[in-house]
Amino acid sequence: MTAAGVTWHDALDSTQEEAHRLASEGAPHGAAVAARVQTGGRGTRGRLWFSPEGGLWLSVVCRPEESGAFEAVGLRVGLVLADVLDRQLPAGSRVALKWPNDLLLDDRKLGGILAEARWHGEKIAWIVVGVGINVRNELPSPVRRSGARLADAGFTGSPDELAEPVALAVASAAARAAPLTPAELDQFARRDWLLGKVLAAPEPGLADGITPAGLLRVRRPDGSVTKVVTGVEVRVVEPVP
Ligand code: BTN
Repeated sequence: MTAAGVTWHDALDSTQEEAHRLASEGAPHGAAVAARVQTGGRGTRGRLWFSPEGGLWLSVVCRPEESGAFEAVGLRVGLVLADVLDRQLPAGSRVALKWPNDLLLDDRKLGGILAEARWHGEKIAWIVVGVGINVRNELPSPVRRSGARLADAGFTGSPDELAEPVALAVASAAARAAPLTPAELDQFARRDWLLGKVLAAPEPGLADGITPAGLLRVRRPDGSVTKVVTGVEVRVVEPVP
């Protein structure tokens, strides 16, 4: 499925808000909105997302054909975005995925994905998938050491030229809210930053991959496996740079 085009704004409160507004007015699958600056960009768990000029701040209206596995959508989007971003980077650089929604480069956060659904009863009416990628924007001081930017890794282009390929990739990945396939689970395993790491929260144990529904598997000290839904904060015991 293709994107219906990217509409650019100089400034918006949040591209998520604008995309939900467009969706409520009937915007088709793939309609995308980007802003050079967001004044109220939002991240997961109600956090603010610092969005100055120089980054890619984009949201895509998605109308998946199935509603069965909402949690899988953000992960599937992560898989396709990692492929898109790898192609922009010098050979040897590889984007990793930190469950549930972080894009990492060399252990630092390059970007994040925010999938917000609106429901009609049991069915998904639409999902707005927001993508924030640090390109050549300033990083806020709390994340200056833990954040990564494409430009520092050799990308010489602008956020504008990434918008269309990113929007297309999101639209194609979010065309279905079906469980992840065995091939997708394999792809995720090859980029899974948490795999084998010792977790302190939300469950003490070892990160042990994800399920087809997109839940995190945690192997407890007694060998049993528990599954964690998205929306919780993962705390790794080893220090994160
Ligand atoms: C995260 O917390 O990692 C997810 C961040 C998502 C940020 C993007 S930027 C474009 C879109 N608009 C927003 O307000 N948030 C998302």
